[in-house]
Amino acid sequence: MTVEQNDLTMRPIAGREELNLFSRLPYVLNEELEDDLTAGRRRPEWMWVALRGDHLLARVAWWGRTGDDTPFLLDIFDIDDSSADRVDIGVRLLQTAMAAVVPADTRPPEYNRDVPPDWHEGEVTRRVVEDRMLALERTGAHLFVERLRFQWRPGTPIPEPTGRLAFRPVRDTEEIITLMTLVLAGTLDAHSRDHLTRMSARQAAIRHYEEELARYRSPRDWWRIATLPDGEPVGFVTPARNDYNPIIAYLAVLPQHRGNGYIDEILAEGTRILSTQDAPRIRAATDLGNTPMANAFQRAGYANFERAINMTWH
Ligand SMILES: CC(C)(COP(=O)(O)OP(=O)(O)OC[C@H]1O[C@@H](n2cnc3c(N)ncnc32)[C@H](O)[C@@H]1OP(=O)(O)O)[C@@H](O)C(=O)NCCC(=O)NCCS
Repeated sequence: MTVEQNDLTMRPIAGREELNLFSRLPYVLNEELEDDLTAGRRRPEWMWVALRGDHLLARVAWWGRTGDDTPFLLDIFDIDDSSADRVDIGVRLLQTAMAAVVPADTRPPEYNRDVPPDWHEGEVTRRVVEDRMLALERTGAHLFVERLRFQWRPGTPIPEPTGRLAFRPVRDTEEIITLMTLVLAGTLDAHSRDHLTRMSARQAAIRHYEEELARYRSPRDWWRIATLPDGEPVGFVTPARNDYNPIIAYLAVLPQHRGNGYIDEILAEGTRILSTQDAPRIRAATDLGNTPMANAFQRAGYANFERAINMTWH
């Protein structure tokens, strides 16, 4: 499908032979595109370009979970930052591509953009982010949450266990879902809080489990329940591996045990498990507003290497 509007051509790329064209606009994900296409996480028909002649003025791409027929995330949206009408062109491409890619009558997949940690401070970096947000807003999206992305490097010391907590594997799915339900009380996480406005805590926990944790192909015996010495559960951590890196997927402390610094020991245990994987990095993320969690990552030697902007459509 190709759409011609005045002098603008908007169309999906033909295939991997057009990855060079698609990658003319710089972004941190460019180097992953080829592997993603091979693995089926991207499809040419989910990767759109706006061209004037052979000049790439804007591009948009969705990412999908392996095996899914519809995209899960809108994670690439770029405009030529030197073009005077860049925001208008971005809006036109978004509208055209979304009409073709997003099934009718469904909520468009969330938008995620990785941004420099100090993007608010520099005039240029701020404009790059805000121009894209403006174009997305004109299609009906709004800022949902800003997140902090963290990275741990091998060699960073991992605190030894203090003995306050014991760790054991998760017994079964029911045990982790029950704990995931309980930790939603008082959560500062925006996605969790949003789910709680629309469903019960147990439904939100099941959805989180099925949509994220159940899909990781890394061993479930990496997951740990933290307990007091008498066996009472305090929290948990689910170290995992996604399509790109080892990650601290989810971790939490039960409401009645918060404020005792237990998260430091739980995060250390998760990091210790992943550190045996001999990977160049461990990744993690939390909301900017989840200060207790962000502080815990920082205390554990996780560097805040990027932020992420999440926008959603109602
Ligand atoms: C984030 C979380 C793991 C912090 O665990 P913790 O062991 O209580 O962390 P700390 O003991 O370091 O807490 C530091 C401070 O933050 C406060 N705090 C912790 N969690 C809080 C919450 N959800 N809401 C408000 N304050 C909180 C503590 O009371 C403590 O306050 P103090 O310094 O005045 O005593 C825990 O709140 C939690 O499980 N939240 C829900 C799940 C979640 O957000 N997980 C992270 C997803 S990325």
